[in-house]
Amino acid sequence: MPGNPVEDHYTSSDLGAVILAALRGMGKDIDHLTPDDLAPVDEFHGGQRPATARLAELVGFTGSERVLDVGSGLGGPARFLAWHYGVRVSGVDLTAGFVRVAQMLTRRTGLAEKADFRQGNALDLPFDDESFDIVWSQNAAMNIADRDRLYAEMHRVLKSGGRLALQEVAAGPGGPPHFPVQWARQPSISFLFSPEATRTKLEAAGFRVVVWQDTTPEASAAARARNSAASPPPLGTHLILGADWQAMFRNSARNLEEGRTLLFNAVLERSG
Ligand SMILES: C[S@@+](CC[C@H](N)C(=O)[O-])C[C@H]1O[C@@H](n2cnc3c(N)ncnc32)[C@H](O)[C@@H]1O
Repeated sequence: MPGNPVEDHYTSSDLGAVILAALRGMGKDIDHLTPDDLAPVDEFHGGQRPATARLAELVGFTGSERVLDVGSGLGGPARFLAWHYGVRVSGVDLTAGFVRVAQMLTRRTGLAEKADFRQGNALDLPFDDESFDIVWSQNAAMNIADRDRLYAEMHRVLKSGGRLALQEVAAGPGGPPHFPVQWARQPSISFLFSPEATRTKLEAAGFRVVVWQDTTPEASAAARARNSAASPPPLGTHLILGADWQAMFRNSARNLEEGRTLLFNAVLERSG
C-alpha cells in the first residue's frame, strides 16, 4: 500500500539482509534458525518474548487452535506460537517489507507448514467470516484510528465462542506521549485510547472480557533494563527502527514512567 504513512514509517531497505548479517556475525547457521535465535529482533513489542509467553499463558492454547495474528510484523510471535504450542497461525500485516521478512525467516526456521504471512489491512481482513479460534494482536492497534472497525473485523473472523488476545498500548493520564516512539515519529499516525475507552469499544463490538491485566510495571521495567545497556546487542529491534532508535527507546521508557502510556493484556470471548 504505497504512500500509506504507517507502512512508510515501518519500511526500511534491506531489513532482511541486515538481520541475516547480524545472525551470521553471532555465529548462527542462517539456514537452520530457531525462534529463540530470532527473538531479540522479531518480537517487536514492549517486553518482547516474555510478554508474548505471558499472553499465550492467559489464552491457554491446547495446540488445536487456528490462530490469526493481526499486525504480525516480522512474524516472531506467530512463529513462537506455532513452534511452542503446535498451533497453525496466519499473520496479516500492512507493511509489505515486514511480510517478506516474516516469510523468509519462517522458511529458515522450518515453520512454513505452520505459519504463513500475507499483506493486508486489519480494517479489511482478507479472511472469511468465522475462520479462527483465536485472534491475536500485539502492539498494532496504536497505529489504527478506527478501533470500532478494527474490533468489528476481529469479531467477524472469529468463530462463535472464539477468543481475542490483545497486548495493547493505551493512553495514560499523564498527557500525550513524547515522540518519536517505535510506532510513530509524529502524532499523526499514533492513536491511543484509554484502557476504559478501549474496553467500551470492545464490548460494543460483541466481546466479553475474560481477563484484563495492566502490564505497565513489567513493560516499564523491561524498557528501563534495555536502556541501561551500554550499547545495543548485535541483534535487536534497533535494526528495524532506523537512525533515531535511541530517542525512541528513551521516550518509550519515559512515557511509561510519566503515565503517558499504559500497557495491558486482555483476553476476550466473542459473545455475539
Ligand atoms: C510494533 S509492530 C508489532 C509487530 C508484531 N505484532 C510484534 O509484536 O512483533 C506494529 C505492526 O502493526 C502493523 N500495522 C499497523 N497498522 C496496521 C493495519 N491497519 N493493518 C495491518 N497491520 C498494521 C505494522 O505494519 C507493524 O508491523
